[in-house]
Amino acid sequence: MANTEPANRPKLTLIGRLMQRKSVEQVQAEYGRGDLKRTLGPINLVMLGVGCIIGAGIFVRTGNAAALHAGPAILLSFVVAGLVCAFAGLCYAELASALPVSGSAYTYSYATLGEFAAWIMGALLLLEYGLAASVVAVGWSGYVVSLLKDFGIVIDPTLTAPLGHVIEIKDASGAVTGSVTALMNLPAALVVLALTVLLTVGVSESANFNNIIVAIKTTTILAVIAVGGYYVLTHLKTALPNWSPFIPPSEGPGKFGLDGITRAASIVFFAYIGFEAVSTAGQEAKNPKRDMPIGIIGSLVICTVLYMLVATVLTLMVNYKDLNVPDPVAVAVNALGPQWATFAKLVKVGAITGLTSVILVLMYGQTRIFYTMARDGLLPGLFARVHKTFKTPWLNTIIVGILVAGAAAIFDINTLGDLTSVGTLAAFAVVCLTVIFLRQTRPDLPRGFTVPLYPVLPLLGIVSCFWLITSIELRLLIFFAWFIGAMILAYFFYGMHNSKLAKGTSGT
Ligand code: ALA
Repeated sequence: MANTEPANRPKLTLIGRLMQRKSVEQVQAEYGRGDLKRTLGPINLVMLGVGCIIGAGIFVRTGNAAALHAGPAILLSFVVAGLVCAFAGLCYAELASALPVSGSAYTYSYATLGEFAAWIMGALLLLEYGLAASVVAVGWSGYVVSLLKDFGIVIDPTLTAPLGHVIEIKDASGAVTGSVTALMNLPAALVVLALTVLLTVGVSESANFNNIIVAIKTTTILAVIAVGGYYVLTHLKTALPNWSPFIPPSEGPGKFGLDGITRAASIVFFAYIGFEAVSTAGQEAKNPKRDMPIGIIGSLVICTVLYMLVATVLTLMVNYKDLNVPDPVAVAVNALGPQWATFAKLVKVGAITGLTSVILVLMYGQTRIFYTMARDGLLPGLFARVHKTFKTPWLNTIIVGILVAGAAAIFDINTLGDLTSVGTLAAFAVVCLTVIFLRQTRPDLPRGFTVPLYPVLPLLGIVSCFWLITSIELRLLIFFAWFIGAMILAYFFYGMHNSKLAKGTSGT
């Protein structure tokens, strides 16, 4: 690669080069110069957060976590995961108020820990946003297949599961009559491609669409809590035994007992991912300094309360062992009896709608991170090319859409979900570290919001993220290490040589 570094720039050592960072002022100056439209106010931002948070975590993965790992004590897992997110959420809010720019944790790292850390953060965010979108698309497919079945439409099973997955074929009585091997999860891929078109057409249309969907999703959750709560209160004799024992005895590492609660926390942690997506909308927020902390903390608090209530109702309505299904909320609602069949269908429609909004917001976040990285020269320029009419990074959006659809079509939801959790927990830990670093290096920087109990909360954030990571399967942690290794090589072969900061053309 050509070295275009101006002659008067001092030569940096390798370490100095890796830690080269944008000045906070530079980041703030760049933030005023985006090509994107400023259309989002505080309500839009909270809606953006809620739109991203409530999704496959509560509608799908909670069932598996309760049935196989925590039992009714899944409630405690939500408390644990919620606390970890609160530590990180407060750190995100401080950084978002000091550096209100597009690119989220990636940009925060660039302005504090340096370019290499920013690149690694970009890789972690690919798991947090891109891979998470695939997880939710698979969850969406589970509810769609179940709803269509209610209307007598059965999709060929080889097109509804991950590649190579063996599916048992049952007759009307439920007896197994044979098996088939799945080719791909076609509905999951199709929904991603459809949303790719919407995102390509424009953010403002997408945000309005998102607001309507978030309203439907929240209403669905509230209806499940209200109807389920009423059912539990009127059937205490059958409901209360479902909580006995509240913490099922341990059956091995990660299976029930206290260890199971931690393992389940790393699974339902997925349910909280998304509050920080608000910080990726910095360049499209009308008043980012005031509204980004409102968006982040507000959406996190609302969702935590809703999750605790849903988990209570689900585990009291049915036995936790029955929840290991693709549509656990629907299974609990079925317990209401056949007279509630229409309500059960409506809940599925609400869940499908809600999951759609999550895929949309996650993909939106992923495209904006790639956009920022490309503007910095760390990714090829086509990722930053904005469409003249739509004002969106259209090529970037199409590439992200194809990658997300591919992963959703061929991989299994638990593998995708756990990898998302590892990447996100690592990203959160770096964000907490970034707050400490910025306080030390730039105590003078005006901050619209500061983390209380500093430095205790950021430190607790770092420790708790690593603690949850250790409860995830070893084979996934090994895969994660390989992924990060490959990304480090990519930095040395591409990013390092094309960085605009290194060339002295940053922000152009
Ligand atoms: N928190 C989001 C979900 O549960 C990612 O789907």
